[in-house]
Amino acid sequence: TGPRPGTIALTDAAQVLTLAGPAGARAGAEMRELGILEHATLVIEDKKLAWVGAHEQFTARREAGEFAGAQVHDCRGKVLMPALVDPHTHLVWAGDRRDELELRLRGADYEEIFAAGGGILSSVRQTRAASEDQLYGQSLARITRMRACGATTFEIKSGYGLELEAELRQLRVARRLRDEAGFRIKTTCLAAHAIPEEARGSEAARASFIERICEQILPAVVEAGLADYADVFCDRGAFTRDEAAKVLARAVALGLELRVHANEFGHTGGAELAAEFRARSADHLLHLSDGERAALREAGVTATLLPGTSLVLAKPYANGRALVEAGVPVAVASDCNPGSCALENLAMVLGLACYGCKLTPAEAIVAATHNAAVSLGLGDEVGRLAPGLDADLLVLETDDYRDLVYHAGSPLVREVWSRGQRVA
Ligand code: NIG
Ligand code: FE
Repeated sequence: TGPRPGTIALTDAAQVLTLAGPAGARAGAEMRELGILEHATLVIEDKKLAWVGAHEQFTARREAGEFAGAQVHDCRGKVLMPALVDPHTHLVWAGDRRDELELRLRGADYEEIFAAGGGILSSVRQTRAASEDQLYGQSLARITRMRACGATTFEIKSGYGLELEAELRQLRVARRLRDEAGFRIKTTCLAAHAIPEEARGSEAARASFIERICEQILPAVVEAGLADYADVFCDRGAFTRDEAAKVLARAVALGLELRVHANEFGHTGGAELAAEFRARSADHLLHLSDGERAALREAGVTATLLPGTSLVLAKPYANGRALVEAGVPVAVASDCNPGSCALENLAMVLGLACYGCKLTPAEAIVAATHNAAVSLGLGDEVGRLAPGLDADLLVLETDDYRDLVYHAGSPLVREVWSRGQRVA
């Protein structure tokens, strides 16, 4: 094939992290294999990666007439790596909870604020009151900042509506971020995020809210084609194991795949439930036993770590080391949400995954690229640098990828490319 106008060569990078290896989720020692090429070049054709290899080979081929029209972008002294994939966010919300941040810093407890009608319920009030366009505008600004920090692919959950119309509105906004703004997005219905104000009076009201999730909200969301996944917050102060099981079973019957908020505050059965239902991922996992780790591994559930939330809430960090040693595929996500973690910089969260959860830098990168992509069913589109995948990648202002953790929080993400275009 001859030169094409849309051909761009990112040349002679100090390191290209290809993540060459198995297509499935990586576990154990596989999580440390970045498939690094040194002095390497990567060729983009239109929206896709067309070629990756030694820079010398690229030069030879180019002299032989290949890649002739390629626009050359010198990457000497830089690192090229897959763009980050953020597999757990609540990034569509209205308003803020800056007041709670200050309350918590002066000693108030997240769970107590929630039980008293603040927390998630505060964001529900603000989100219900917002129009779709207001919600879209606030969320677009947020996701654009998140992309500037290195992520081009996102999972977005509902869960600040907790009634049909407001849940649908949140999910429609997430779809618009995909269809109008060009972000790569998977959506998750998290109607089982909290018991809303109006259902808090009695056990019967509570039961009828769960009934409403199963018989009204989930079916309508599926009917409208607005969700790829369903999620449940199964934890102390949220939904019990039995309630969560009901919602998950209904979601499966409706054809949705599952993700589960599990074991953030205690052992209430969330991780076991995720294993029983063979969820795509179990998330948080601050409190986890050997038996629960084994159950996740055997069921092929990805463990998604959210260390930003541990930092913000001053909670223990999930034991990422034990999960890797136990052979569970691990992913890392921002959990970006208005309360427990409004951090938008997934690249910085990788630092926390190392310092807090004890992953190595290589493991953290696999966790927030390929493993995250696989957990979202996008392993053939993004997460590695291989021909045929979408050209979603980062240019780092360093010659050693470990600086992403060593200097966590520094502006090392110099360029962000998505589908062959520079977007930040
Ligand atoms: O993943 N744990 C439950 N849900 C979110 C927090 C949501 C909020 O505080 O608004 C989380 O941390
Ligand atoms: Fe969450």
